This record gives sequence, C-alpha cells and structure tokens, in this order.
Amino acid sequence: MTARLNVNIDHVATIREARKTIEPSIITAAVICEQAGANGITVHLRQDRRHIQDRDIELLRDVVTTYLNVEMAATDEMIAIAERTRPDAVSLVPENPNEVTTEGGLDVIGNLENIEKASEKLRAAGIFVSIFIDPDVDQIEAAARSGAQQIEICTAEYAELTLASRAVHGEGERKAAAEVDRIRRAAVHAKDNGLMVAAGHGLTYRNVGALAAIPEITEFNIGHNIISRSVFVGLDKAVREMIEAISRANS
Ligand code: PXP
Repeated sequence: MTARLNVNIDHVATIREARKTIEPSIITAAVICEQAGANGITVHLRQDRRHIQDRDIELLRDVVTTYLNVEMAATDEMIAIAERTRPDAVSLVPENPNEVTTEGGLDVIGNLENIEKASEKLRAAGIFVSIFIDPDVDQIEAAARSGAQQIEICTAEYAELTLASRAVHGEGERKAAAEVDRIRRAAVHAKDNGLMVAAGHGLTYRNVGALAAIPEITEFNIGHNIISRSVFVGLDKAVREMIEAISRANS
C-alpha cells in the first residue's frame, strides 16, 4: 500500500513572516495541497514562532478536512495549545532555539517522564500521538513505553547522504544504502512493538523512493523540497509530483 503524504507548509509561513504581512496565505496553501491529493497537512508551531503562529493553527483546524498534524515541543504551553485546538495528530519533536531546522530525533529515554505526561494529556484529548526519533532500537522501545501510537523516523542522516554531490557511485552510495537498511530495521522493530511508522526530514523527489518501498512506513511528512519546487512549478504540481514519486516505489 502506498504511504500517505502530509505536506509540511511551514515555509509558506516563513515567506509571510519575512514581511510580517498576510501573504502568502497558508490557508490557501493547505487547500491546494488537499486538492492535489495530499493526505494531510503538517505544521510546526515553534516556541520562537518563526513561521507558524498560534492563529494559523486555529484557522487550519477549521479549514483542513483531511488530517492536521502539528509538530511541537513537549512543553506545558504547547500541550495546552493542542488540547484547545485539537489537531488530529501531534508530533513531539526536540527544539533548540538556535537551530535552523529540527536537528535530530527526540531523546525519549532521557525525557521519558515528561513525554509520558504529554502523551497521556494528548491522548485524553483524542489526539493521535507521534514521536520524532532517530532510527535507534532503544529509543523505539522507550517510545512504545511512553504511550505514543506512532514514531516518525528522522531521515536527516539519509537525506544528507543522498545530497547530489555525495550520492555518487562508491562510498556515498554504499553509506546511503546502509542508512536505508537501518531505517528499514527500525521500522520493522517499531511495528513489532505495536507502533505505526512515519518518516520525514530532508526527503526529496529523488530520495523518497527507497524509503517508500519500505512497507512498514505508512506516512511521510515532507515540506522544504515541495515548497521549494512550488516556487517554479506551482504548489498543485509540486504536491502531485511528490505523490507520484512515493507511489512509483510501489508500482
Ligand atoms: N518531520 C519533522 C518532525 C520535522 O521537524 C520536519 C521539519 O519541520 C519535517 C518532517 C519536514 O522536513 P522537510 O521540511 O525537510 O521536508
């Protein structure tokens, strides 16, 4: 079965916030993504509010008819926002104020108590709980104990290995294949531990295929590459092309 695609539209808001103005509209972006066939919309409400704002979450909750996934840190402030706005899913992510983007998976082992508390509150509010982690057996087992229903495997390392300049034949290609294998084993282990499996971070039209061929991965969260391509070909076409890249792996 082809994995679902949630389009991360943070960077539509990044452009808007560059001028602190009203365009481009993330509501229009969400509707275009859904009409192009996306299975859901993902946004990251960062503590520094550098792109998505609290009001965006409220508006998206009213407009998104497919699936709204909100990425957030497991802080009291964020969990309270989720309880109030009720997205379909919350993905708990680590957050470092100076990072350009999320730098890696959450340390579930080191933060188990806090994550358990957050998961319990979110699940009590009827929200599906996913945790963004590295493809690591111990973190997966901790995620299963934390009360989360899904893990999202951080694909940052794989993405780095498949950057055009590094994915040449030989060493680079071997390292990327080894990372795909590590992700595959993590996905199987998570499923064996009763967790659903998503993947995301740095995925592109060129590198998503190898992961889309892993049957345990049932969801992708992809943003930067789709929004980048949409600048040249439009958002509708950019989303359709990513759906095609994912489906091609299963045909
Ligand atoms: N999944 C998570 C948990 C993320 O933090 C991000 C980046 O916001 C993504 C997926 C999407 O990554 P990208 O924008 O590189 O596709």
